[in-house]
Order: sequence, then C-alpha cells, then structure tokens
Amino acid sequence: MSEPITTQRILEHVQRLGEQHPPLALASVDREVHDPAAVAARYGHVIDYLARVELEVDRNVLELLVLLPDVSEVDRMFYADVWQPQEIQHGLILDRLQQDLGRPAATPELEVSAKMKVMGALAHFSAIQDIARLLYYLTGASTERQAVLAYNIIHDGMTGLGETAIAETIIAPIRRQEPGHFAFYRMSATQLVQSGALRPWQLYLARVLRERTYNLVGVNGHDRYRAQMGGVVTALGFDADLDRYAREVGRIEAQLLWAHERGMAFPPYVLAALRESIDLYRERGFD
Ligand SMILES: [Fe+2]
Ligand SMILES: [Fe+2]
Repeated sequence: MSEPITTQRILEHVQRLGEQHPPLALASVDREVHDPAAVAARYGHVIDYLARVELEVDRNVLELLVLLPDVSEVDRMFYADVWQPQEIQHGLILDRLQQDLGRPAATPELEVSAKMKVMGALAHFSAIQDIARLLYYLTGASTERQAVLAYNIIHDGMTGLGETAIAETIIAPIRRQEPGHFAFYRMSATQLVQSGALRPWQLYLARVLRERTYNLVGVNGHDRYRAQMGGVVTALGFDADLDRYAREVGRIEAQLLWAHERGMAFPPYVLAALRESIDLYRERGFD
C-alpha cells in the first residue's frame, strides 16, 4: 500500500478546501438561458433531482449528528466549514435554475428517518460508531463521485446546447467543488481502514450493512427517488455502459471493504442498485 494517510493530511485537505473554495454566491450566476424549453426537455428532470439532493444537505448534517454523536474535530470542520456551506449553495443555485426553466421549486426531505434514529441510538456504543463512521465515509465517496460524473456530462451537454452561461457560471463552478468532497471521504475511509482500528467482526458487519442498505445518490430508500435516479442515469447516458459506471462509483469500497475478494472492480450491490433504478424508471417514469 502507498504512504499511509494521516489525520494531519486530512486536516490540511479540509483547510485547503475552506480557503480555496468559498461557497458560491447566487449573484455570481449569469442567468441567461437561450432556450429554456430545450434545456428543460433535455435536463429538466436531472436538474430537479440534483437540486433536491443538494438541498438535502441540511438533513444529511442532522443525520450525521445522530449517527456520529462523538464526531471527530476534522469531520466536524469538514461538514460545518466546507461541505454544508458549499452544498447548500449548489442547491439554491440549481433550484433557481429549475425555476428559470419554468419548473417547480425542489421539495427536499428534511426529516431524519426513524431508521436513522435507531442506528443513532446504537451508535452510542463506540464499536458501532466506528462502523457507522466507515459507512458514512463510503457513502460520501460514492455519492460525491456520482455528483462529479453527473456534472461532467451536464457541463458538456449545456455547452453543446450553446447554453454557455449555465455551463460556465453554474455547472463548472459547482463541479469544481465536488472532487474535494470526494477526496475527503476517500482519504477518511482509507485512513480508518488502514489504521487497523476496526476488528474483523466490525468490517464484516460493515459489509453486511453496506450490502443491505446501499443506495444511489439521493435515493434514501424511496422507490420514487429510485425510479427518478434511473431517469437521471439514463438521461446522462450512463446506462450505455453500466459496468463502467459501477466501477467509477464503487471502486473505493471495492478496495477498502472487499479487498479479500481479489480483482473485484466494484461490489455487485452497486450494479444491482443501478439496474433496479433503471428498471423502475422504465416502469414508472420520472414521477
Ligand atoms: Fe454539490
Ligand atoms: Fe459534494
């Protein structure tokens, strides 16, 4: 394995993100849209989905506080100083774009689920909290990767449509902030596993829980969102090579959680979740 990742390195990463990436201001956006109907026809549902997910950051922070009652200082700095302030602006900017396209405002879910509260009660046991931390990092790595991939395609698509203002003053600045989030979760998960702090039974339980609870970004256990995510995956063309997409999204956990399964490019549950989403989308459509 390469050089171990230290807490100090993660801390420096978080500080750098805070300094180099201030939250985006709504006023920085050029709201010119040449052909709102064309943009809405191609990306309306995708923007709706992303706006909702970005706006749900406030619920994600509450869940985090429930799941990690003894949150570390570096984790706290990341979500409080970097992640939440950046994501909420992504949400507000995309939500306004939706409305500029003539679509209704996003309706984010801001209630912490009962399931999450049960996990939170268990997380007061430190052995369980370490498992919850690993799952939190892996979820973060997987969802941030999905965000990066989505914004890449949308940026090119908007440019192709001649919607330069959207591409350059909305999508490009948002896209620049996502890889730093991904790197934080990747480094944190790697450090936790490499440190040897998790006993074999904890890793085993983490695998079982991950397998049973894996969700694509923004799905949160709801079939309605699962179908919508299938629509997003389809609209962005990822359905043309699902293995490749699963590899991109599941690589970190394949390496950290399933290292004993030699040569696993991505965990099977990632591909299964993608297939299920797309099937549901074909059945039910976006709504
Ligand atoms: Fe974001
Ligand atoms: Fe992000």
